[in-house]
Amino acid sequence: MNLIKSLMRPLLPAKPLIFLLLTVALAGFAQTNTPVISIQADKVIAKMPPTFYGLMTEEINYAYEGGLYGELIRNRAFKADAIQQPIKPENYDPAKYYPVQIAADRPPKFWSTVGSAKISLDTNTILNSALNVSLKLDVSGASKNSPAGIANGGYWGIPVKPNTTYHASFYAKGKDFNGNLTVSLVHVAGSNEVKVVPQPGIEVRLGETTLTTASATVSKISGEWKKYEVTLTTGNITPSKENRLVISATKPGTFFHHHGTIWLQQVSLFGDTYNNRANGNRTDLSQLLADAQPRFLRFPGGNFVEGDYFNERFNWKETIGPLEQRPGHRSCWGYWATDGFGLPEFLGWCEDLHMEPVLAVFAGYTLKHDHISAGPKLEPYVQEALEEIEYVTGDVSTKWGAQRAKDGHPAPFKLHYVEIGNEDWFDTSGSYDGRFAQFYDAIKAKYPDLKLISTVGYEHSDSQRVQTRTPDLVDEHYYKSEEDMESQSYMYDKRDRSNPTKIFVGEWATRVGSPTPNMAGALGDAAWMCSMERNADIVLMHCYAPLFVNVSDLGAGRSMQWKSDLIGYDALNSYGSPSYYAQKIFSLHQGDEVLATGTQDLPTYTWIQTGRTRNGTPQPARTNEVKSLFYSATRDTHTGNIIVKIVNRADAPQDVKIDLSGVTSIADEGTATVLKADNRDATNSLESPENVLPATEKVTGLGTSFTRTFPPCSITILELGAK
Ligand code: AHR
Repeated sequence: MNLIKSLMRPLLPAKPLIFLLLTVALAGFAQTNTPVISIQADKVIAKMPPTFYGLMTEEINYAYEGGLYGELIRNRAFKADAIQQPIKPENYDPAKYYPVQIAADRPPKFWSTVGSAKISLDTNTILNSALNVSLKLDVSGASKNSPAGIANGGYWGIPVKPNTTYHASFYAKGKDFNGNLTVSLVHVAGSNEVKVVPQPGIEVRLGETTLTTASATVSKISGEWKKYEVTLTTGNITPSKENRLVISATKPGTFFHHHGTIWLQQVSLFGDTYNNRANGNRTDLSQLLADAQPRFLRFPGGNFVEGDYFNERFNWKETIGPLEQRPGHRSCWGYWATDGFGLPEFLGWCEDLHMEPVLAVFAGYTLKHDHISAGPKLEPYVQEALEEIEYVTGDVSTKWGAQRAKDGHPAPFKLHYVEIGNEDWFDTSGSYDGRFAQFYDAIKAKYPDLKLISTVGYEHSDSQRVQTRTPDLVDEHYYKSEEDMESQSYMYDKRDRSNPTKIFVGEWATRVGSPTPNMAGALGDAAWMCSMERNADIVLMHCYAPLFVNVSDLGAGRSMQWKSDLIGYDALNSYGSPSYYAQKIFSLHQGDEVLATGTQDLPTYTWIQTGRTRNGTPQPARTNEVKSLFYSATRDTHTGNIIVKIVNRADAPQDVKIDLSGVTSIADEGTATVLKADNRDATNSLESPENVLPATEKVTGLGTSFTRTFPPCSITILELGAK
């Protein structure tokens, strides 16, 4: 609770005299106590690390499938309902492939029938062992006037745009059917609900008005598995997401047999992709990211690197090579990942956005607390990690570098950072120290220049952190309320500078607002980013998490598993939250030198912290005095400009005096980029994507010493012309 806010509001209309007296008193207070931020422009305390600001997400909130990954078909491999039986580490051979079980009596999820078609899952007629199920389509009731087929409504819709070419493909095999299939994009007026057949063989009528937007014919389905591809080009239509991909037949079978059956696998549809990359990424989301110029990508997780069980980890070797050879696996966030967005795609994403990969390797511990202690049984996983590093960095003369070339990318990627595991403070067995040491020794022996990151940072106790090796960095995670984030944003200023281990804040977010953060979130974030910038001598990298959320169904359909995510979208549209814009303006105004700063009289607010617990026991409310003003100062040596960031989290304007020393002059005119809102609840959404946006303007009255009024709830970046 903000006390200043709650005291001021009732006073304003009701008690004019008291208000007048209070205003005079506050004005007097402001005059004598204007906060001062002094900047020593001739004292550089750190070079801004080249990989300071980056990205992190994983298969959560339909971030890839149903998000960034350009695949538009949901459940293309028919494994959405697959049963992945947990395997304990002692029974698990990491080199072995464990096919999932398919409940063939269940209807194919997210697929519906067209006309008289009957569909079911079939594990007897399969494309290969990786995709060990197919969709069996009975078209024996098909006719010219009543085609029979299947339909897929995508991830809460299929985005169809004007004058765009879509690539549809599928594997198929026919029995008593050698006719044509029509592949269409069909617009559904009135509803986008995909109706699932409740039981195989029972038809559900679609019931809506449909309109074919684009269609193509695949001729002569063979009696053997074969890949079929068509392009579908739209005309001058209105963009919409109420669409389906329909594959249908108008003949019931062959001339002699009228009981035609078709088996299908990997039914896929892609529209345009960023940089026209095959199997690539959605353009609008990629562009939002590119606009913020991230310098690195931490992947593949998060929890996603671990999985719930050993056989659900991110098994990178099963995420490379041809798409139809990738079995996919259950994401720990509760839905199936085809792994079409696998290791090569993470690297392609890095390449497209000029980001450096920060590779997290599986380290023998899973979310359900299974682990393998250091020793010979952990060795296969260490080797797996070494091979993964070789896949990323090795030249084509190496085994895994050659595999990467085979997968379409002969040039090795630059890699400087490898993270060993994820959030291993959850491992109460105490095995992390030994596991880390085993990975550390093996990786350093082969790749001495790689910087290795421990997943247990200084926010955890000594006993949880790695002690037997010196990690190059530790990964600290902070998910906080606005007040909490602000109250800890002077923490790094007090950190021990003699420690050789640096900090990677590999997950952080001010979690205010859902599905995406509001202005309060952005204020907490900006306060925190100021703190990381001021301390860039020890904080080398940071990335917000999670990055993405599909906002299509926040109810039972669970398109979101984690609230407060940077960027929201549905099948067709996307938007950046106020927090996204805070990130963006910080990233674009990073500078490359951090300047020494000092302060006087920073204002505070009172935060009464409730709801705390310790070991499950409720704690009494605690009163905290928290600073309400945050700052950092950097220099861009290319332009010579000094960049001053000021965050005023208060609900009232705030005067701040800025004193610069160590410069000859500061130009009277500069620029201010301001992100602000009328109130801290203000936010962006699909409906109002531009409610809170930054604006840049020319400002005057600057100099080596000047006082400026910073608006309520605002983040300001001043660019000062320095000589
Ligand atoms: O970002 C969401 C989750 O938060 C990550 O998967 C995990 O590392 C953390 O607990």
